[in-house]
Amino acid sequence: MTSSPTPPLPIRLFRSEDEPALRRICYQTAWFGSSMEATGADECLVSDLLLLPYLRYTPETVWVADHGGQVVGYLTGCLDTVRLDRLRPWILAPRLFRHLVLRRRLVQPPTRALLRYGLQSRFVHREFQREATPWPAHLHLNIAPAHQGTGAGGRLMRHFLQKAKNAGSAGIHVTTSSPHGPSFFEHYGFQPVLERKTPALFGRPPQPWLLMAVSL
Ligand SMILES: CC(C)(COP(=O)(O)OP(=O)(O)OC[C@H]1O[C@@H](n2cnc3c(N)ncnc32)[C@H](O)[C@@H]1OP(=O)(O)O)[C@@H](O)C(=O)NCCC(=O)NCCS
Repeated sequence: MTSSPTPPLPIRLFRSEDEPALRRICYQTAWFGSSMEATGADECLVSDLLLLPYLRYTPETVWVADHGGQVVGYLTGCLDTVRLDRLRPWILAPRLFRHLVLRRRLVQPPTRALLRYGLQSRFVHREFQREATPWPAHLHLNIAPAHQGTGAGGRLMRHFLQKAKNAGSAGIHVTTSSPHGPSFFEHYGFQPVLERKTPALFGRPPQPWLLMAVSL
């Protein structure tokens, strides 16, 4: 008997009921591509900061890889980075107030470490924003650890490249501090634009932090 090949993971648009799965995957990959579990950082805070602007303001460009009804990866895309960056503080301020003041998370060392990281990285973030203007779209892509290497990331990537091209975008940029990020994005035509270092975070020393872009 011959075994049939594994069917490719379907890609579909994000639905609101997917949010808990996206938050979990976000947390499992947020620490330079690795899980934040060992750091004690608050999952809700981390996923609010990294996901919420996309889930609330650009859900039409958020896709998931679905493995038999289980979400195993996601791509949060944005065609107009400048607009989202303007909205981001308004989206995040009420959440931060809730976490830091109402839930009293500010007193927790992992929360302070995250805030310090955010403050220390803001100059590089602004530099990346300025350099990235010729490529107005951007994305974040994360696959659950158990499903990495199964084709989900590639399918999500190709899907967004096509959608951005169809929408008439001039190009897409990414910023990555994950060890596998640069070679993965190069595989899809992205070229390095600028390299900086991240601040240290939870005992991990500063990591290479790369702005990459592809013209469409
Ligand atoms: C990096 C990541 C998105 C890749 O997704 P994936 O599902 O594991 O990758 P796939 O199995 O879909 O591989 C797709 C293609 O990319 C290639 N590829 C995968 N990882 C690669 C790497 N590190 N370098 C070069 N090519 C790579 C594969 O060979 C495959 O090529 P093919 O389509 O020509 O056969 C995923 O491993 C991940 O989420 N890692 C943790 C978080 C992260 O690093 N996010 C991205 C950077 S911010």
